[in-house]
Amino acid sequence: MSALLEVKNISKHFGKDTKALSDVSFSVQEGEFVSIIGPSGAGKSTLLRCINRMVDPTSGEVLFEDANLVELKKKELKMTRTKIGMIFQHYNLVNRLSVIENTLHGVLGKKSVIAGALGLYNQQEKERAVELLKILGLEDHIYKRADQLSGGQKQRVGIARALIQDPHMMLCDEPIASLDPNSAKIIMDHLQNISRTMGITVLVNLHQVDVALKYSDKIIGVNGGKVVFNGVPEEITKEDIQRIYGSEAEDLIFDIGGIHAS
Ligand SMILES: Nc1ncnc2c1ncn2[C@@H]1O[C@H](COP(=O)(O)OP(=O)(O)O)[C@@H](O)[C@H]1O
Ligand SMILES: [Mg+2]
Repeated sequence: MSALLEVKNISKHFGKDTKALSDVSFSVQEGEFVSIIGPSGAGKSTLLRCINRMVDPTSGEVLFEDANLVELKKKELKMTRTKIGMIFQHYNLVNRLSVIENTLHGVLGKKSVIAGALGLYNQQEKERAVELLKILGLEDHIYKRADQLSGGQKQRVGIARALIQDPHMMLCDEPIASLDPNSAKIIMDHLQNISRTMGITVLVNLHQVDVALKYSDKIIGVNGGKVVFNGVPEEITKEDIQRIYGSEAEDLIFDIGGIHAS
């Protein structure tokens, strides 16, 4: 395995006082499933946004497939972003459009503005969209409007829209934070399948430590904009959880005991 992504000494300051990230470094191997955990305000979203440059870091490097994303100009950045799929807590679908139209939106990054605006998708793209929607268990919903779906179904459309880009890596910002436990499990199982059978690297922000322990090859714990843990789930300790979650840790340690004992 070789590193697909290397985050090197990333800092992000908002104004004078907010240090959202301070000297964050870690690497992600090809095909790895990595969770970033930490309390609200830890800097998880800012970190993902710095990786795909939705936010420009104040300093540091983001090496992805040997390019430093921080230095890329607009056009190169657009090309590179097609290799990085994003999924969001609130799905970011277009409500009035159908499931398949939302899925096809994922290929817009590779098209001219005019072809995209006219909805000019070729047969191959449409077939791929249907294929992905079947993999995600949405074959009965292909022509429904997005706003007729449940939260879990919407998130699966979000995943299909990311996969149709043929990404090498998926960045997922709290993909299950708005879902009930059952729907959350379905989403996490799909993300695991994507990493294991499609070989796509998955980097996911999670609030829930028990979910991270269950699914991750590696966990990165963030608190106050700093990496305070970087290791495999098996080696995380109560002290680590305390360092990551601070005062929120009490409620979580019970879960850990359960997981490590099982
Ligand atoms: N656009 C922004 N402008 C100013 N401050 C921001 C902005 N985005 C995030 N922050 C601040 O950066 C810190 C980290 O936020 P965030 O990355 O959203 O954390 P998390 O996703 O872990 O909850 C917080 O203090 C937050 O208020
Ligand atoms: Mg966040």
